[in-house]
Amino acid sequence: MSEVLRSEAEQYEQIPTRVYPDADSACDELAQEVAGLIRAKADAGKGLVLGLATGSTPVGLYRRLIRMHGEEGLSFAHVTTFNLDEYYGLDRSHPESYWRFMQEQLFEHIDIPPENIHLPDGTVDRQDVHAHCRDYEEKIASAGGLDFQILGIGHTGHIGFNEPGSSVDGRTRLVTLDILTRRDAARDFLGEANVPRHAITMGVGTILEARKIVLMAYGEAKASVVVDAVEGETTGRIPASFLQRHTDTRFLVDEAAASELTRIKHPWRVGSVEWTPDLRRKSVIWLSGEMEKPVLKLVDEDYAEHQLGDLITEWGPAYNLNIRIFNEIQHTITGWPGGKPNADDSHRPERAEPARKHVLVLSPEPSDVESAMGGTLHRLVDQGHEVTLAFLTSGNLAVPDPLVHLATDLVLEMGGEDGGGASAELARTVRGQIESKGPFDVDTPETRTAKGLIRRGESRAAAQTCGLQLTQIRFLDLPFDEKGRYRQFQLEAVDAAQLTELLREIRPHQIYATGSVADPNSVAAVSFRALLQAIGTVCREDWWKGCYVWLYRAGNRAWPLHEIDMAVPLSPAEMANKVEAIYQHQSQRSQTPASGTAGAESWQQAEHLNRSTAVAYDGLGLAEYEAIETFRRWNRT
Ligand code: GLP
Repeated sequence: MSEVLRSEAEQYEQIPTRVYPDADSACDELAQEVAGLIRAKADAGKGLVLGLATGSTPVGLYRRLIRMHGEEGLSFAHVTTFNLDEYYGLDRSHPESYWRFMQEQLFEHIDIPPENIHLPDGTVDRQDVHAHCRDYEEKIASAGGLDFQILGIGHTGHIGFNEPGSSVDGRTRLVTLDILTRRDAARDFLGEANVPRHAITMGVGTILEARKIVLMAYGEAKASVVVDAVEGETTGRIPASFLQRHTDTRFLVDEAAASELTRIKHPWRVGSVEWTPDLRRKSVIWLSGEMEKPVLKLVDEDYAEHQLGDLITEWGPAYNLNIRIFNEIQHTITGWPGGKPNADDSHRPERAEPARKHVLVLSPEPSDVESAMGGTLHRLVDQGHEVTLAFLTSGNLAVPDPLVHLATDLVLEMGGEDGGGASAELARTVRGQIESKGPFDVDTPETRTAKGLIRRGESRAAAQTCGLQLTQIRFLDLPFDEKGRYRQFQLEAVDAAQLTELLREIRPHQIYATGSVADPNSVAAVSFRALLQAIGTVCREDWWKGCYVWLYRAGNRAWPLHEIDMAVPLSPAEMANKVEAIYQHQSQRSQTPASGTAGAESWQQAEHLNRSTAVAYDGLGLAEYEAIETFRRWNRT
């Protein structure tokens, strides 16, 4: 464990952890630090030995280093790099090889001499792997050891590819990838079946020999492994927890990845806190869950026994506080997500006026919206609001090839094999391209167009199931997604410009959006940043003052109970209709039911989530509904 003296709030943390508002500010600071080290070494006539990582997490750092090289003359001429790992069996030229990733994301854009770059070689023969790994270790040693190691963290708690079960003194070796890791990589490889089963990775022991280590983790999906690594016991089950044994390791995390740390999740357990309204609500809801008692049945002793005595001294007695919080939660529930016309709205999440609102619903990927808010969407339409549903990206990266076969065959059969016409011509071209495509080849523009069209068809069917007319649907096909690969998206001004135009046209009273706490490199998060830029452009226009932004959560997550500002109950019939809507996204169904992908299809997950929220509300002592969809208001005051 590091010797650094930690503050009272950080008393549970065994690794110094710095929380940043977002990944960008963390990357800004880290890039400065790396540049400073490179320059300091250069001033001393030496070169820095850097340990590098792949994955989406370090991409922001690499972009900044590239910019500093171009604009500030930062030279890498004397830098030597060693990457953590490489997939075994992949050729360097493979689009997902870490070799290629590093070339594209960093090395091609800086002045590092090629001979200074080192990655494990995923193509060495099986019988030569051990010697290759030993050689890799020797090269690190003869470079003088790693001065600075950059790390990300996988959902299994892995560093490099040291999966659960790794030992603290492991060296560079061939490893078998965890099923969860392979699933995480499935999108990059266009299917889980294509993901290699093995990799070569530096060992935990190799990593721990670096003089300085920084681990970055961004996005909520990393929160649980971050807390395990930082606050849990050191264990091979969470290989990153071994970093507790290193004396100069830091974690840099954004707020979402920090959300499970004790000081953030249960701040009252690490010292005195200011009892803001949000924190009061959070602690009462937490206590109710902990005691498995409805809010109104909590008593003073329950608070006192759970380090919440201060709260009761300030805001008690328990019954008064309970009533206050109970009412707050009660007021989140509404069957009128667009506001209830002619009703007193002083305790409702939405305003009554205007009765007929312009509602803009944004779906970053085509199936996000129905999964998260299909029931609410239907209500908004039924309750007479002017709803526009905009699909922000085409989603064409996620369409399996066999569906393209199906679609092109259909077009050709309808027109007759010899039929002319542009569509038959395109279908023939695409079919030819799919047939000659190698297992990991990137799709051609024509094939991507065809895949986008497949998702358009599904999206229309899903939206119609939610009550929308075709005229209410827009497809934006934002360029960042069309030009990108998963984990490597780059926003350009044109993305936000398209959203600005849409906002100005619709002048919404309500926007439904998602992506604020998602993995910062996901389609949802990148789309959300484009929305924020667009909002930045229109926020001084008069109509904007009347707009509420409601955040839903995509990807099988709900808002934590204390963060919910609007809870929309669904009847059994509405739940069934929502499932039918999600079901329309046929290309997103599991292609191989036997592969056991965590069991559930997306409609099953959505159903489970919405029912669980209803059960949780019931547990707090509120009415028992069939299912509930949840929203948080963005920038609420
Ligand atoms: C891969 C890499 C790790 C990386 C992890 C997380 O498994 N071998 O080094 O930390 O992915 O990836 P991401 O940063 O995309 O979340």
